[in-house]
Amino acid sequence: MIMLGVNVDHVATVRQARGGHYPDPVDAALLAERSGADSITVHLREDRRHIQDRDVRLLMEMAQTKVNLEMAATDEMVALAQEWRPADCCLVPEKRQELTTEGGLDVKGNASRLKEVIAALKASGIQVSLFIDPDPEQIALSASVGAPVVELHTGRYADALTPQDRKEELEAIRRAVGHAINHGLIVNAGHGLHYHNVQDLAAIGGLHELNIGHAIMARALYDGMEKAVRDMKRLMREAAPD
Ligand code: PXP
Repeated sequence: MIMLGVNVDHVATVRQARGGHYPDPVDAALLAERSGADSITVHLREDRRHIQDRDVRLLMEMAQTKVNLEMAATDEMVALAQEWRPADCCLVPEKRQELTTEGGLDVKGNASRLKEVIAALKASGIQVSLFIDPDPEQIALSASVGAPVVELHTGRYADALTPQDRKEELEAIRRAVGHAINHGLIVNAGHGLHYHNVQDLAAIGGLHELNIGHAIMARALYDGMEKAVRDMKRLMREAAPD
């Protein structure tokens, strides 16, 4: 059955805007869990622009589901993950100037480093996923460097401006899901997913978990966190009932 990972980074973004103590992403995560989130995702960026180390530490103590730590494959982040031991780590490319994670990892160009990092995280009992574009080469390489999970970047699908482009991007994801499953990988997806585009994606089938942040947090401003999470989960489960 398809799972919903709720990303609470944007709660931290609002907090950091004033540098104070509220709103608290840990509080938001607990509420999201009570509203149906199957896991909580946080991206600890190298520049600490939103999530802080303290948030991850507290989440590790308080989350009732599981924590998925998104991070760059740096020595600092690997050491923190080994200390905190979240259930899942999703390795992402990180550029300081970007507004959000703009593209998938270049697994080919970073194969030896990724292999090393995946092995180190696995040895700490962490399930590692690689955030990649829905590209057959990246999928094959992800399997070859030892990743058990991939998260497919859905940004191009979400941002497609015409029905034709949207259809083509969805087809690319559909093929990528099949390809990844054939390589024995667990397949997650995320980025830019919204109430209006999640069902076509979920209906592809074969997806284990969708990680969704911005749309849910934006909706929560008007409808409250509980309804925002419940509505997203209901849409996903309607589209992918098994
Ligand atoms: N998955 C990954 C790997 C991400 O980097 C992000 C953005 O932080 C998301 C999912 C969630 O994207 P969005 O906030 O657009 O739902």
